[in-house]
Amino acid sequence: MQAFWNAKFQTKSLIYGEAPNNFIKEHIELFVNAKTVICLGEGEGRNAIYLADKGLEVEALDISDVALLKLRRRAKESYVFIKTRHTLLEYWEPDTLYDAVVCTYLHLPKQNQKMLFEKSLQALKPNGYFIAELFSESQIHFSSGGPKDIALLYDLNDIFDTVKILPCKIVKLAQEVVVLNEGDKHVGRASVIRVILQKLVQD
Ligand SMILES: C[S@@+](CC[C@H](N)C(=O)[O-])C[C@H]1O[C@@H](n2cnc3c(N)ncnc32)[C@H](O)[C@@H]1O
Repeated sequence: MQAFWNAKFQTKSLIYGEAPNNFIKEHIELFVNAKTVICLGEGEGRNAIYLADKGLEVEALDISDVALLKLRRRAKESYVFIKTRHTLLEYWEPDTLYDAVVCTYLHLPKQNQKMLFEKSLQALKPNGYFIAELFSESQIHFSSGGPKDIALLYDLNDIFDTVKILPCKIVKLAQEVVVLNEGDKHVGRASVIRVILQKLVQD
């Protein structure tokens, strides 16, 4: 897994571009009262740097040490600090509570996809937000990027079945066709699933 991603990131250019993901940027209002955020599968750090620049305390988790090195270099150049966690999501045991969890295009095998939502909710403070953009199974019919293996893509109904029993309000859960312009790897019409969950305050 690490070798696969390191090979992709072993280039001077930013393979998913410099700008943050549009869906995250369009929902910056979710972060107005937030102080801390963790970005899962954050790669070269385009969302992390954007959020740190807005004054948030940001952590970035990723399995690629090459991507995390690029992220730290970029953070230094941008005069922000981002704490990095070099691990597989599967081994991450949320030990801190965050105001927000961000995830763009972390594509796990089917049997581990539930874990993404369960661990993210576990890592959130009450009222905190989970916001994610992921390729849907329909992305298999598009050539704008993402895994070419359906077992690594997400199904809207499976996500609904997972999140409906978690302690959260579903603010948004939708499959949409969008136009991506993210570096060399995500370019053109794409089928994505956009998710916003708010952690419920429990008694
Ligand atoms: C498609 S890239 C997206 C990177 C970043 N989120 C972005 O949108 O620019 C997927 C990222 O997830 C990381 N990744 C893949 N599987 C992972 C896993 N099981 N645990 C942690 N990171 C993983 C890869 O190293 C890579 O950085």
